[in-house]
Amino acid sequence: VKEHLVYFTEIGIDRIDADLPEVLVNQKPVQDNGEISQDQGQRFVPDEEFPIAAPAEKAKVEEVKSENTRRKLFDKARLSDMKVTTEERKSTLKIEPVEKTIEPIMSSEPKLKDTIVGDISDALPESKETLTEIRAAIGTDCNRCVLCENRSQVVNSVGNPNADLMFIGEAPGADEDEQGEPFVGRAGKLLTKIIEAIDLTRDEVFIGNINRCRPPGNRQPEKAEADVCKPFLLREIAVVRPKVIVVMGNTACQNLLDTKIGITKLRGSFKDYFGVKVMPTFHPAYLLRDPRKKREVWEDMKTVRAYLDGN
Ligand code: URA
Repeated sequence: VKEHLVYFTEIGIDRIDADLPEVLVNQKPVQDNGEISQDQGQRFVPDEEFPIAAPAEKAKVEEVKSENTRRKLFDKARLSDMKVTTEERKSTLKIEPVEKTIEPIMSSEPKLKDTIVGDISDALPESKETLTEIRAAIGTDCNRCVLCENRSQVVNSVGNPNADLMFIGEAPGADEDEQGEPFVGRAGKLLTKIIEAIDLTRDEVFIGNINRCRPPGNRQPEKAEADVCKPFLLREIAVVRPKVIVVMGNTACQNLLDTKIGITKLRGSFKDYFGVKVMPTFHPAYLLRDPRKKREVWEDMKTVRAYLDGN
């Protein structure tokens, strides 16, 4: 409700009339000990007694890119060490924007290898580098895509290098661009609450974005821009080796899983990335615009928590 009110204020609505049923008007949040709770309204977790939204339609089967294609994506990551010339960078401008159309659905199930010990999915490639080395390879003056022209600074991933859980977003916004850290603005504060709702802290998880530079006007990164920046994130995944990756929103989900299927279809069940469980869910910025979607995110996060707990 608070987020909603802040949002209304931001768009210029300063007065709302609503005829609420008396039972709601008089309802006070009460704790187990009978006292009125101070932190009601601050908590992200919806009450268990609330009716849970109908489960989203199950994604149809998606065909996963072949092992070779995925391997090549990793190998290409190395190319991103190279600096690009101004001409090459400008040419990224000519590349067609990300297609918004949803293609026929491919298999989102992990590709399984028939082995002596049974069916297993292809594992994450071994990494011999460190997060510091990856960060040094990116550099503070990265000019691999046009986003460098308007950003204040490169916003690198943060968090626990041994995290079991990783969160991936789209690209920095204004606050992140100013402070040099991902998810520190309004959406970031909500992400912190989401993390805490599953009994973890920001320091215990790893947080990154597909793109490390703020797109002008917070627009979605173009495909060409994501293609040059994403390899660094893939290298970080190979170093951190989390058990679960939560991809928040379409950009993160479609770029990591290399699919054009929308987040509404994909969210709610685990997908595979080199044997790592991937949970697609809504982006916290979307939750700020439509807080009713918090219920689905809470369901997704409970699934993640249960998996981390070994269930
Ligand atoms: N949104 C994102 O996707 N990433 C950030 O770091 C902040 C907002």
